[in-house]
Amino acid sequence: MLQRQLGTTGLSVSALGFGAGAIGDLSISDDHATRVVHAALDHGVTLIDTARSYGASEDRIARAIEGRRNRVILSTKVGYGIEGAADWSYESVSRGIDEALAKLKTGHIDIVHLHSCSEEVLRAGEATRALNDAVHAGKVRVAAYSGDNNALDEAALSSAFGSIELSVNPWDEEAIDHILWRAKDRGLGVIAKRPLANAWWRHEARPDRADVATYWERGKRLGLPSFGMSPDALSIRFTVYTWGVDSAIVGTTRPESFGALALAIEEGPLPDPVREHIRSAWRNKMAGARGVV
Ligand SMILES: NC(=O)c1ccc[n+]([C@@H]2O[C@H](COP(=O)([O-])OP(=O)(O)OC[C@H]3O[C@@H](n4cnc5c(N)ncnc54)[C@H](OP(=O)(O)O)[C@@H]3O)[C@@H](O)[C@H]2O)c1
Repeated sequence: MLQRQLGTTGLSVSALGFGAGAIGDLSISDDHATRVVHAALDHGVTLIDTARSYGASEDRIARAIEGRRNRVILSTKVGYGIEGAADWSYESVSRGIDEALAKLKTGHIDIVHLHSCSEEVLRAGEATRALNDAVHAGKVRVAAYSGDNNALDEAALSSAFGSIELSVNPWDEEAIDHILWRAKDRGLGVIAKRPLANAWWRHEARPDRADVATYWERGKRLGLPSFGMSPDALSIRFTVYTWGVDSAIVGTTRPESFGALALAIEEGPLPDPVREHIRSAWRNKMAGARGVV
């Protein structure tokens, strides 16, 4: 598995990461969640991304990586949901980090993101200060922001963060021209979330979930050809090899996903005409479309 530097953070991450949102769902058993994490590790995935709001995800990751903690770059997200503390307050962020340390059963977390807070919250500075205090206390290695659009711009240009997480895939390209090069110019790490556009093509009819429905509508509108490959291969190769992306974190509940995606990544970047077709289709047909948070 291709390994890359996460910007200038000093961390090295696998080009394919694991977005562990879906394995927090209690309809999946603990054992199955462990199998998914082990499959990721066995395929050379070293970056695992979770969040306070992802159900049992943090607990399950801790269990699955027991004995292998030092081979994993752990990323989580905080800022809300702390009893007795207002969301995005200093206390909410710092207690969120302490609770994540306990759940993940680790002495430090490699990357902690503010989880899609608004630009106003970022400008107020309290949440960012709490996160950076945790870095100075040695609890967190990299302070980061996960989100999109105006708030992402604010975060990326603020000098308060070492890394960002944003949506990138063939149906979500606005950030590529707009913020990616500026983030790299500042040495930020870049983690691409939703690298498969939530596999919108699996739905015959418009799905109920708003984020997936947005991609489904974009998919129909853009009407990209298959270019002789499966949509997941097209999407992961597009995202992983977008200039500036250090790692693409795929969400999956199936251990076999990692092998298929790793093989696609081994094929290398999409041929230039394919990439150019995808980029110009976006530019010509999706003016004004923003990142799916
Ligand atoms: N605001 C935020 O901070 C934010 C928002 C969204 C996501 N994220 C992060 O990004 C991660 C990934 O995003 P995501 O899960 O929403 O979207 P995603 O990775 O683009 O898509 C996930 C979907 O792709 C399917 N899939 C996985 N591997 C596949 C393969 N080889 N072939 C075909 N389909 C496949 C999964 O289904 P199966 O389970 O059946 O494999 C799932 O339905 C999340 O887990 C989370 O860590 C963060």
